[in-house]
Amino acid sequence: MKVCVIGNGGREHTIAWRLSISPSVEAVYAVPGSDAMRDVAESIAQDWTNTEMLIATLKQHEVDLVVIGPEAPLVAGLADELGKANIPVFGPSKRAAQLEGSKVFAKDLMKKYDIPTAAYGVFSDAAEAKAFIDRTGAPIVVKADGLAAGKGVVVTMTVEEAHCAVDDMLSGNRFGDAGSTVVIEEFMVGEEASLLAFVDGTTIVPMIASQDHKRIFDGDKGPNTGGMGTYAPAPVLTDELRAVAMRTILEPMVKALAEEGMPYVGCLYAGLMITDEGPKVVEFNARFGDPETQVVLPLLEGDLGEIMMACAIGSLSADQVKWKDGSAACVILASKGYPEMSSKGDIIGGDLSNDEHTFVFHSGTRLEGDHFVTNGGRVLGVVGVGEDLKKALEIAYNRVHRITFDGMQYRKDIGAKAFK
Ligand code: AMP
Ligand code: GLY
Repeated sequence: MKVCVIGNGGREHTIAWRLSISPSVEAVYAVPGSDAMRDVAESIAQDWTNTEMLIATLKQHEVDLVVIGPEAPLVAGLADELGKANIPVFGPSKRAAQLEGSKVFAKDLMKKYDIPTAAYGVFSDAAEAKAFIDRTGAPIVVKADGLAAGKGVVVTMTVEEAHCAVDDMLSGNRFGDAGSTVVIEEFMVGEEASLLAFVDGTTIVPMIASQDHKRIFDGDKGPNTGGMGTYAPAPVLTDELRAVAMRTILEPMVKALAEEGMPYVGCLYAGLMITDEGPKVVEFNARFGDPETQVVLPLLEGDLGEIMMACAIGSLSADQVKWKDGSAACVILASKGYPEMSSKGDIIGGDLSNDEHTFVFHSGTRLEGDHFVTNGGRVLGVVGVGEDLKKALEIAYNRVHRITFDGMQYRKDIGAKAFK
């Protein structure tokens, strides 16, 4: 089959690579793709927002399946448009993607279906929000309702800080419309894990658990980012806890969405907090995680093209999804100034090649002449795959030490929690 991936980041580079080595896949296209993705996909320089033109291009290339990578096209309803044109899609409808697009929608649905998550309140009025904060006390978490590139969440340690976060969001300065409603949440204590699953509307098959590192600095210090590194499998989510999370969280959510008339198709991402009372939801995403994808897909055994097509047409079965032994680790190399800003155009030097155990997935780069330069906040995801996590980390960091660019920042403690 011919598959087209929508997107141009590290997640899409990884998906396109994994599709390119799937026996069922004869061609991979990417819209718009990136310079680096050309090693695994044919880039089509087009804007997904022009759906009419996109559909014409997909038909012209006889594309059998479209995989939508990022949240923006999902929340905008691209899957619905492609569906109307009879093109199978891996990715949820606009209505189902609200699970990520609106934190209020997600929290209200979890409440209605008794899915464990932090207690919360929803506010558009600053005085009411602050009164709630005063009643609850700190630490407390303030979240913008809409999409904010992983940066719309402030975990505050004092009531004053929480008041500031509310003012920041509700005044519209920080996140525009996305912050005009806020969710204020009870602070949950525990270790986090990401559990992704393939879903075909009714059948749900989990992937191996992974763990992200959201803060910019070592020791989980500094502001939240889109994610600075990952590893899989994450031992914090034991087989037993993963089964609990499936039974109490992911399966009920898929059932709930079907009951609400918006069956979920694609990758369902549950960000979990492993609390003393068991796994609770931190957030849902309507897509693959970035950089979770970079560590999960290299360990997938089985044909990703077939699995994704099965999700799109409603014929997914658990025996299609198998996992390799061993571990994978990903270290994100970020540009100068990230996450507040990102430096662009810095020349990237060193070894960016792939081998059997090392993959360099490009998140934000572009070709200038014959060398890559930085072109975003997160620049590269350097992945090592080994027989265990120690080996995977060693492979990843060995390569990290052989890549350079001005102002390069990365965490030196990826995976450290797994050894506690
Ligand atoms: P989110 O974008 O909702 O995943 O939030 C970003 C990060 O903020 C999470 O990965 C957590 O580290 C932290 N966080 C979010 N909600 C809570 C909560 N209720 N309690 C503790 N930490 C949280
Ligand atoms: N790595 C977090 C996310 O993809 O949302």
